Amino acid sequence: MAAKAWGGRFQGATDARVELFTESISFDHRLADADITGSQAHAKMLAKVGLLTSTEAEQIVAELEDIRGVIARGEMPFKTELEDIHMHIESELIRRLGDVGRKLHTGRSRNDQVSTDLKLYVREAIAHVDELLVNLQRAFHSRCERDLDVVLPGYTHLQRAMPVLAPHFWLAYCEKFERDRERLADCLKRVNVSPLGAAALAGTSLPIDRHESARLLGFTDVARNSLDVSSDRDFMLEFVFDLSLIAAHLASWSEEWIIWFSTEFGFLKLPEAFTTGSSIMPQKRNPDVLELIRGKSARVMASVTQLQFLVKGLPMAYNRDLQEDKLALFAAYDTIAACLELAAPLAAEAELQRERIASRLEEGFLDATMLMEYLIGKGVPMRSAHETVGKLVALCESRKCRLSDVPLADLQTACDKITADVSGVLGTANAVAALRSFGSGGRAPVLEQIRFWTERLK
Ligand code: ARG
Repeated sequence: MAAKAWGGRFQGATDARVELFTESISFDHRLADADITGSQAHAKMLAKVGLLTSTEAEQIVAELEDIRGVIARGEMPFKTELEDIHMHIESELIRRLGDVGRKLHTGRSRNDQVSTDLKLYVREAIAHVDELLVNLQRAFHSRCERDLDVVLPGYTHLQRAMPVLAPHFWLAYCEKFERDRERLADCLKRVNVSPLGAAALAGTSLPIDRHESARLLGFTDVARNSLDVSSDRDFMLEFVFDLSLIAAHLASWSEEWIIWFSTEFGFLKLPEAFTTGSSIMPQKRNPDVLELIRGKSARVMASVTQLQFLVKGLPMAYNRDLQEDKLALFAAYDTIAACLELAAPLAAEAELQRERIASRLEEGFLDATMLMEYLIGKGVPMRSAHETVGKLVALCESRKCRLSDVPLADLQTACDKITADVSGVLGTANAVAALRSFGSGGRAPVLEQIRFWTERLK
């Protein structure tokens, strides 16, 4: 049985059930790389201030590097008695180096060590998620040229509203994922503050140099208050919240495309490799990947709540509750990464059903707002124009026709400002062509957006 690092004041062994209940190695082994990197920086700092000789520090750094490989190859047996990854690595170091290994933990505690590891881990996770977000943006951007001539009905309340060019949809998603990227970049500012050397909660009497270890680890700042460090998980909560917004964006996109893939809509054909069949209904082709992206968002969102409950009401400073934080972190990160990995090829490869979309574009009065704006252009006050077009729509509904089918004489009866040039704004193609305000869904503004993203995503 492995001796406990904290065993000095204990006479007997820990109850095996307690070991099983309190272990975290089954999940925190994922911090191995970060832990070794953090310990190597700590050892170098200890040598710089004279708490280790440079030979001792070199030995420690080299052995830790070797242990990194051992763990990466899956050759380190994990033992419940050793509780967590930090104890596993330290005890292996001590096994190899004896007294030199026993010096590594000088001037630090597992509390600042865990926090350091988590920050190093989250820093990498942010870089990874950011890369996946860019890939997804590229996927949406990549279809803009191809879909430039496709007009789609835009909806509010899932009721036909106004037409837009298809790339307007694709670039709307790019915007959402861009804000997600900005949030991650902002979160990184708090992640990049070094906890190392805050020790258990109060710092240490030893002459450590926290700025040196921070510098070695690429942190941009050093945390000012050791009590705060020992209890702080804000950075993780922020990160997981940022992931939950990505999940929300992915879930809305999935929902939209699931609807578009239905027989009722028929706007979209998903690549066969990204759909599945039914075990009983031979004709079925189901959008399971999109449904699971929508479904898995629940896990990411739940992780935010899990962390909020975890930190709520904890007295300063470290409490063992915090060990549970990693479960929420890994669940949220793994889930988002998996969703983004699949979202990108799906977003790039799905095909718009152009004929089907076009065949129904004249339904739903997508040109009504443009007719109203035509009247405004003729000097009719907006509210009066709105009312006039509303009445014309009601007339069309009773005649089962479109606005463009109403004879000019009838239009002029509704409003004497209307002249023959009205035909230029009626019909969906004319309506979308008329859109020209900055950020709108017409051709020129959409081309402007495409140029922006081409530059941005280079
Ligand atoms: N396994 C623990 C965790 O992950 C290590 C920290 C233990 N610190 C302590 N004071 N017992 O949170």
